[in-house]
Amino acid sequence: MKIIHTVSGLEEALQQVRRQGESIGFVPTMGALHEGHATLVRQSVAENDFTVVSLFVNPTQFNNPEDLRLYPRTPERDHRLLERLGADLLFTPSVEEIYPEPDRRVFDFGLLDKVMEGRFRPGHFNGVAQVVSKLFRFVQPDKAYFGEKDFQQLVIVREMVRQLQLPVEIVGVPIVREPSGLAMSSRNARLSAQERENAAQIYRVLHDSLALKEACAPVKLAEWVVGEINKVPGLRVEYYEIVDGYSLQPVSTWEESGRSVGCVAVFCGAVRLIDHISYR
Ligand code: PAJ
Repeated sequence: MKIIHTVSGLEEALQQVRRQGESIGFVPTMGALHEGHATLVRQSVAENDFTVVSLFVNPTQFNNPEDLRLYPRTPERDHRLLERLGADLLFTPSVEEIYPEPDRRVFDFGLLDKVMEGRFRPGHFNGVAQVVSKLFRFVQPDKAYFGEKDFQQLVIVREMVRQLQLPVEIVGVPIVREPSGLAMSSRNARLSAQERENAAQIYRVLHDSLALKEACAPVKLAEWVVGEINKVPGLRVEYYEIVDGYSLQPVSTWEESGRSVGCVAVFCGAVRLIDHISYR
């Protein structure tokens, strides 16, 4: 696996790949890799001739400086894992390399980034769009892989690709969970053993809520979910919203949407976790 730190080095390496007519799969990450990331990389390796992984903790998508400072970083472990998975190229640039000057672009995603994560993390998705659009320009992948773990991010990346008319296919990959049900996340590394146990209750409650769908309207069901999660010591719900999986707008009846998704953000101690469940 080649490890490249500069945009010019990346472009040079990929020119050769393209000249040989090979297809390029791309997996953007912020590192501290786990089985969720590994699943994306495996799928890219299986579906493309050449797989590029980027590892860049993007400062413009962190609205909280403390979250950026404490974001887990495990570069050597990440390199070893990516070698084992068969990635061909790791792009791991400095902040100056990606932002030689401040990126002042402001994207307009309509209502998609006004709700849920967008509401509680202002500017977050604009930062994601800034970095992902730059990475797409540098890598020019045929396919790019994103986890459904970050459900709203996946919807917004698809919208960005549509708006910018980028010739890339976005592939969504189902969420990977711990045996306890906890959604895998780099931020889980910051949880104590006790907090990890508490955090596993998030998915337990989401899963139990499926059985109540017939009996409750979405608003009532959402109230129940918030109450149950807040009962667990150390957990505090920031939001739980049942939305249409395409427009991300709240649904008031199940009939309104062919794809209702419940999305949650929960503080587990100081660590903020997100998860979701599909009610179909
Ligand atoms: P990061 O949180 O490192 O996630 C990289 C990719 O891995 C994302 O597409 C994310 O949805 C996926 N992923 C994370 N945990 C997962 C899980 N448990 N199951 C399935 N997929 C999972 O998301 C980002 O980085 C950044 O916002 C990025 C897109 C790289 C832009 O900076």
